[in-house]
Amino acid sequence: IITRGLATSAARNAIKNVTVIGGGLMGSGIAQVAAQTGHNVTLVEVNADILKKAEGSIVNSVGRVAKKMYKDDAAAAKKFLEETQSRIKGSTEPAKSVSDADLVIEAIVENMDIKHKLFKSLDEAAPAKTIFASNTSSLSIGEIASVTSRKDRFGGLHFFNPVAVMKLLEVVRIPETSEDTYQAMMAWGKAIGKTCITCKDTPGFVVNRLLVPYLAEAIRMMERGDASARDIDIAMKLGAGYPMGPIELSDYVGHDTSNSIVQGWHKKFPDNPLFKPCDSQQKLVAAGKLGVKTGEGYYKYN
Ligand code: CAA
Ligand code: NAD
Repeated sequence: IITRGLATSAARNAIKNVTVIGGGLMGSGIAQVAAQTGHNVTLVEVNADILKKAEGSIVNSVGRVAKKMYKDDAAAAKKFLEETQSRIKGSTEPAKSVSDADLVIEAIVENMDIKHKLFKSLDEAAPAKTIFASNTSSLSIGEIASVTSRKDRFGGLHFFNPVAVMKLLEVVRIPETSEDTYQAMMAWGKAIGKTCITCKDTPGFVVNRLLVPYLAEAIRMMERGDASARDIDIAMKLGAGYPMGPIELSDYVGHDTSNSIVQGWHKKFPDNPLFKPCDSQQKLVAAGKLGVKTGEGYYKYN
């Protein structure tokens, strides 16, 4: 029940049912934090096997969160895990999954054509009230939204890996995003425990526009032989206070992801030296050494 005093547009638009499309690294984390904070979540994947893998990684991560939240209370930790799990249902049918969604967050592969195909079909299937958002790292939100008839109910919600731990949410407005949609996205970000910042629809928004060139500069420093990977990482951890060094962070983000971001920007802005793809990173991608997720990148993981 919304009292008269609280009957603001943000309260009227309160988001309860959330559909997350794509249950990979980011989508499974987004589904997790939404469910942990009491939202009904539908998680959509391409097949049942991948859904199962996503559910496994969610259980693992909620377990870590619960252990921290309820240090001395195993029963409360178990209840938190069970309640979170019970709020997530899996689906392999994107169109059906949005029939009662207040918010849809897309976290599928970083490819404009594939995102367009998905949003076109979701736009036809979802009710008028549904807000659409993309978790894209580097593509233009306006260009993604262009295939829908709801640009006023479209924005970016850009999360950070690991979603359960990183406190920031970038809320991206395009010129067409309505004030109600923007306020609803900001309120939802707060409701899931994130600190929100407002971004324009510029390449990389705030974090990636600064982080991606920094990671590439570190790789170029290593390629020139100016310092070893290990020393560059130690330098930035102990000399600049970063939790991870840039070479280990590039392994953590994934070389497919970082390389596709710089490739896309290099194509659009060929004269910007900060967006130049790195030779060694392209070699890693070609060899399938994508970083932590495949067990090897610049470093080896077991
Ligand atoms: N789920 C739940 N909890 C997790 C977790 C996960 N997936 N990963 C780590 N944690 C928790 C751990 O349980 C641990 O909790 P306690 O403090 O209670 O022990 C805490 O986080 C710290 O983890 P660890 O002790 O394992 O390791 P750490 O201290 O090195 O922290 C880290 C790990 C949080 C990843 C930290 O190294 C870090 O912040 N690294 C930088 C990450 C970063 O920059 N991410 C952004 C990448 S860019 C991006 O995402 C945007 C894009 O578009 C590409
Ligand atoms: P990922 O490869 O781990 O996961 C993508 C998932 O989407 C896969 O499991 C795939 O099966 C699924 N998928 C593909 N097409 C689908 C469709 N049509 N319907 C349903 N599911 C589909 O990728 P990720 O790292 O989670 O990245 C997802 C998005 O989030 C990308 O846009 C990426 O740029 C962005 N992002 C990535 C990071 C990061 O650090 N990796 C951080 C922030 C944002």
